[in-house]
Amino acid sequence: MVSQENSIGKPLAAASWLASHHQAKFPERTAFAKRLASLKPRSIVDLGCASGLWLETLNQFLPTECEFIGIDSDEELLNMAVQRSNFWQRKVSFLQLDLEQEAFRIPPSDLTLAFNIFPYIRNLDSFVNILSQRTPRGTLAIRQYDGASIRFGPMPTSKRQAIEIDLRVATENSQRFYHYDLDRTYSVLRHSPYQQCSYEFELFERFSPFPIDFLPYYEETLLWTYQFLSKKTADYFRTWIDADPLMQNRYFYEVDLVALLS
Ligand SMILES: C[S@@+](CC[C@H](N)C(=O)[O-])C[C@H]1O[C@@H](n2cnc3c(N)ncnc32)[C@H](O)[C@@H]1O
Repeated sequence: MVSQENSIGKPLAAASWLASHHQAKFPERTAFAKRLASLKPRSIVDLGCASGLWLETLNQFLPTECEFIGIDSDEELLNMAVQRSNFWQRKVSFLQLDLEQEAFRIPPSDLTLAFNIFPYIRNLDSFVNILSQRTPRGTLAIRQYDGASIRFGPMPTSKRQAIEIDLRVATENSQRFYHYDLDRTYSVLRHSPYQQCSYEFELFERFSPFPIDFLPYYEETLLWTYQFLSKKTADYFRTWIDADPLMQNRYFYEVDLVALLS
């Protein structure tokens, strides 16, 4: 079982998985961190900060006067974030909160980050409402992946669709998180009290030969997917993986919703 769970059982939130993910997407994440820095926030709250990888990237581009507050419910990940932050020359604190139960305790800030945290929040409408009621409201930055906009290939469409159906049914049945959350996120944001909203889709793409920094994330994504497949689909998927062991004719892409609300 390739659970990729963190210490409190949240799927796709293990420290090593988040590190592979971060390493694979480092160029894109660095570009986004620079963009956020151009907003000149004096304080940043990172919701679901995990081991602090995003804050570490932002630490390179924000002036030392900008305060960082990381929030997560997983103590083990927060301890890693604390370690990571030891050498940062700024005011930094971390709060252990269950965002679903204790959203009212999220402090206000100039910039609030909600990066791939919404899939764990059942009542998203209420959550975004609570965020918007803080004073000052500040900017809310969202990055949201979706299981349906992650694609590896090339492979016949019928095979890809069989893989996608097995994965969707298995993750939906588990009811542990919303692996397909882009549309729910978009709808909630469109109806939220925030007045200024910008939306875009950000493409993450890699073509073989894959960069070395991308390989762990790619291989872990394949393995994670594989475990949810029915025998017939899994057998095909294994044959597809084995058919190109050196990964010479492969592509991967993923599309995230990126929104800035204020
Ligand atoms: C997929 S990770 C995202 C980490 C980081 N924001 C990123 O984009 O790389 C989700 C994080 O949210 C945290 N999380 C999930 N549900 C939570 C909740 N109800 N309250 C606080 N943190 C939660 C998990 O512990 C995990 O660290």
